[in-house]
Amino acid sequence: MTTMVLLLFLLLLTFSSIGAADELSPYYYYDSCPLAEEIVRQNVAAAVYRDPTMAASLLRLQFHDCFVLGCDASLLLDDAGGIVSEKNAVPNLNSVQGFEVIDRIKDVLEEACPLTVSCADIITIVARDAVHLRGGPNWKVYLGRKDSLKASISAANRMIPAPNFTLEMLISNFQDQGLDIVDLVSLSGSHTIGRSRCLSFKSRLYGQELDKEMEERSSDFFDSLRSVCPQSGRDNALIPLDLKTSRKFDNEYYLNLIRGEGLLQSDNELVYQETEETILRLVWAYAEDQELFFRHFTSSIIKMGNINVLTGNEGEVRHNCRYVNSYYH
Ligand code: HEM
Ligand SMILES: *[C@@H]1O[C@H](CO)[C@@H](O)[C@H](O)[C@H]1NC(C)=O
Repeated sequence: MTTMVLLLFLLLLTFSSIGAADELSPYYYYDSCPLAEEIVRQNVAAAVYRDPTMAASLLRLQFHDCFVLGCDASLLLDDAGGIVSEKNAVPNLNSVQGFEVIDRIKDVLEEACPLTVSCADIITIVARDAVHLRGGPNWKVYLGRKDSLKASISAANRMIPAPNFTLEMLISNFQDQGLDIVDLVSLSGSHTIGRSRCLSFKSRLYGQELDKEMEERSSDFFDSLRSVCPQSGRDNALIPLDLKTSRKFDNEYYLNLIRGEGLLQSDNELVYQETEETILRLVWAYAEDQELFFRHFTSSIIKMGNINVLTGNEGEVRHNCRYVNSYYH
């Protein structure tokens, strides 16, 4: 009898480990590179100290990596040897930054423990540290991802949600990644730090797509956006996503939403009149309880970090995050 149970258990174990995310562990580099997380933390702290806006940029890297074929550092690859870089996809071009910080961290890690710590894991640790340094939650990161051998600019254009997405589109975009409504609402709270170009929300201010609800609900906010972002020109001017506390990772984003002062249309989609009750309730709950937001954000970002990870013999550990090893050597 006991042998039967044991066999069944082993069988279950075999099948469940097909889901590669199960193979990640907080202790993955415990023996092979015990100082890995400490090295990353120090370098993120130094980079954010030099340029406080870098924290947001570093957090966003994980989102734009994970949503495109999984958390495999495909985002970091440059144009080279047949690779067409995701960095030039519409959502990334002239927008995503922080690559030099990752390069620097990788250089130090290659000195400390060559060909051991993957670029995909670096992105994951960096995002956690960036959030924590801005006053957000801290959490244990799961490690052991491998780096991809390819990139996909077309997937980057297709999979990363656009700022003018409707709620329906946002929900199905997240669903495609195995993420639910709680993940959508809590991860959108990343917009408590960082900035957006006028280009990303200008259609709400002028012309056919003018957002009448925003204009009516908070005319001061609307006017101030118009004064920074004229109808033509200044497309690259930067506005904080959270005007109240742009450098602090807090729950102010949700209070902004309730005031009708979310910067992007995709932010305001979470609170529009026709928004479904479950989403509205989450927004209000996070606005009232920062700790709840932090708890949900933490579990959602860990979940996002598990999307289609490569483990074991899949992929490789890159020597240089910008190139696959076969090109580099
Ligand atoms: C829900 C769908 C989302 C949409 C449509 C969206 C869209 C955008 C857009 C348009 C910008 C401004 C880019 C620019 O104008 O240069 C931005 C910035 C940012 N996003 Fe999102 N985003 C979404 C979800 C997320 C998620 C899930 C995260 C992280 C987990 C995230 C993190 C950030 C951060 C930190 C910034 C500021 C970047 C900086 O200051 O460098 N976003 N997002
Ligand atoms: C979003 O904007 C793009 C580019 O301006 C446009 O092609 C697309 O139709 C818009 N999508 C929605 C849902 O409004």
